[in-house]
Formats: sequence, C-alpha cells, structure tokens
Amino acid sequence: MATMVASNLSLAPVANRFSSGMSTRFFDKPSLFMVNSPLYRNFAAKIRASPAIATVETVLGTDLNEQEANPNQKKQVLACPICYDTLIWNGDPVFSVDSTPRSTLKCSTCKKSYSGNETHLDLTIASGTKKYGEYKPASSELFRLPIVSFLYERGWRQAFSISGGFPGPQQEFEMMKDYLNPVIGGSIIDASCGSGMFSRLFQKSGLFSLVVALDYSESMLKQCYDFIKQEENISNENLILVRADIARLPFASSSIDAVHAGAALHCWPSPSSGVAEISRILRPGGMFVATTYILDVPYPLMPFVSPIRETIGQVSGSRIFLSESELKDLCKTCGLVDITCVRNRQFVMISARKPA
Ligand SMILES: C[S@@+](CC[C@H](N)C(=O)[O-])C[C@H]1O[C@@H](n2cnc3c(N)ncnc32)[C@H](O)[C@@H]1O
Repeated sequence: MATMVASNLSLAPVANRFSSGMSTRFFDKPSLFMVNSPLYRNFAAKIRASPAIATVETVLGTDLNEQEANPNQKKQVLACPICYDTLIWNGDPVFSVDSTPRSTLKCSTCKKSYSGNETHLDLTIASGTKKYGEYKPASSELFRLPIVSFLYERGWRQAFSISGGFPGPQQEFEMMKDYLNPVIGGSIIDASCGSGMFSRLFQKSGLFSLVVALDYSESMLKQCYDFIKQEENISNENLILVRADIARLPFASSSIDAVHAGAALHCWPSPSSGVAEISRILRPGGMFVATTYILDVPYPLMPFVSPIRETIGQVSGSRIFLSESELKDLCKTCGLVDITCVRNRQFVMISARKPA
C-alpha cells in the first residue's frame, strides 16, 4: 500500500489552509467548496500521480504508481474474515461501486467464497449462511432497520448536534483532515459509515486512492449506495461498499492507511475488539480518527455512575464513555500512540496513530 509523506507533497500548503488553529477552525464556516471544486480535485489527483513530488513507502510489495499500473494489487488489502488470509478476487480489475455486484472472492486458505450483491460485498463471517442467523446487541441491530437507515441523514444525524454538540458532517470533515494529512494519497476505511455521509466526502475530496464504506447494516449500505448514485460529481471508481463486523475486519494486517469511525464507537458491541482490529489493519504510521460522546462524569461520582452505565450497556449494547481518559486508555491499550482529543460539550474527536 502506498503512502505519501505529507511534508513532501505540494498538497500540504492546500491542506494547511484548513488547519488554521483548532479553536477558530472548529466554529468556522465549512470550506468544503474548496475540496469540491474541480480545480482542487485535479490538483490532488495530479499530486498522487507524480513520482517527482511524492515520497512513497512500499508495504505489501507495491507502491501507488505500481497500483495504478496493476489495480489487482489493491485487492490484496481484502482478507478472509475467518482466517485473515488473502481473498482471490474474480471480477473487474478495478475497485468500483459498479463492479462489486459482479464480483466473487475466494479465500486461498479456508476456500470460503464471498460475493457481492446489488449494493455491496458481504464480508461478514456468517455471509452465505442459509439456516444460521446471528443477532448483535440492540445498539447494532437498531441500525439494520430500513426505517432507521432512511431517517438517518433525514434528521437523525442532525439531532446529534443538539443533543451532544456534534459540529455536523462538513465541519467534522474539515477537522479530521488535519489528522489525515500524513496519509493523504492512501486508502481510508469509513468504518460504520452508516448512510455514507463521510464516505462520500472522502471520495469527493479526491484525497484518497481507495475509499471503503463499511458497515454491519445491510440497509445502511443500501442507503449509502442510493445516495452515491443520486449524487452528482462522485466517482464510482476506487470506492467500494463492504458489509463487515468491526470486531472482525476483512482486511490484511498493516494494509490500510487510515480508518475513520464517525459517531460509532459507542454503538459497537465491544469497542476494544473494534479498536484492536483497526490497530491490526492499520499500516505502521497509519491514522485512526473517530468521534463519539463523553459524559464527563466528575471523578467522585464514578463509583455511582459506573454500575448504572454497565446495566444500560448490558441491556442496549451501547457503551457510554464517562471520561476522556477512558477513551484514550482504550486506544492506548490497543497499541495506538499520539492520542489527541478535541471537544465540544459531549462531542469528542479522537485521533491516534499506529506506531511506525
Ligand atoms: C450512529 S451510526 C454512525 C454513522 C456515521 N458514521 C456517522 O458519522 O453518522 C453508527 C453505525 O455503526 C454501525 N455499527 C453498529 N455495530 C456495528 C458493528 N458491529 N460493526 C460495524 N458497524 C456497526 C451501525 O450499523 C451504524 O451505521
């Protein structure tokens, strides 16, 4: 997987224009028009293609220019969720939203086959089962309801701004670009993408060579697919939709440059399994950026609030973070470093890096 070092890229001055200090940037008007402009997209694309100005690290025996010459190399990032061995891809040579329905994948070790349906590749362990059904806790199952997927970008997500201080997708995207600077030109997984609001922003920005929109909910992925098809100026190339469980990610170890998880950590059945998996698939130096809620319970009240939190967690499957240090500890215990948090009321954006 190719990785560009931001300081060597001519894109850095452009990206730096977005990073004019966290406190002002946080409340600034979104400057998304810049990344949506054809000029900016062409600029980013040319930078990725120019060996003269990009420092390229080689992981998995390939670099960005090799990948462009041989798109099959990219497919090596996909791994069997059972044994993590390489999946052999039978289908169009390029990753694309349109090619995934016609594609099948086979594990070279355990021989299990995976296939794409109309909207996404199903790379869950239980994919293809006929009789066995599996249910996750309520916090995951809720988002599998088609009505919730339909409503998600039609008011549900917007409510997070009122209830928890989430700045909103466009401002969150502007904020996270600072953290993603070192991995521009590489691959990004929008983990628990929901209806894909950030997957679409990543793809339209032209800043990444591969965007994976990943979620456990089939109906969220269908909604994500529909939005991609409805939206103008969004390329289907180098964009795939994948159904997977965050606790069993279908990617090779150390193969991915960045993982984003918006408003999702608190919904995962086991945040530690999720962050451990993210840490496994990130290449050394890769970035993790996530947003969630923190309740900020005063220390003396912790012994009283913790049992209530555990009871709520056992019933709903959701995790309420009581303090920033708890969230940082989670990333640290999964081997991530350089952990930072930016806050606005209950909202937190946490960034962490896999050690090089
Ligand atoms: C609140 S939504 C967040 C959507 C979007 N990222 C955002 O920023 O608004 C939480 C998402 O987590 C997904 N999710 C829940 N459990 C999951 C799991 N075990 N694996 C992967 N995704 C999961 C849900 O399907 C849902 O789409």
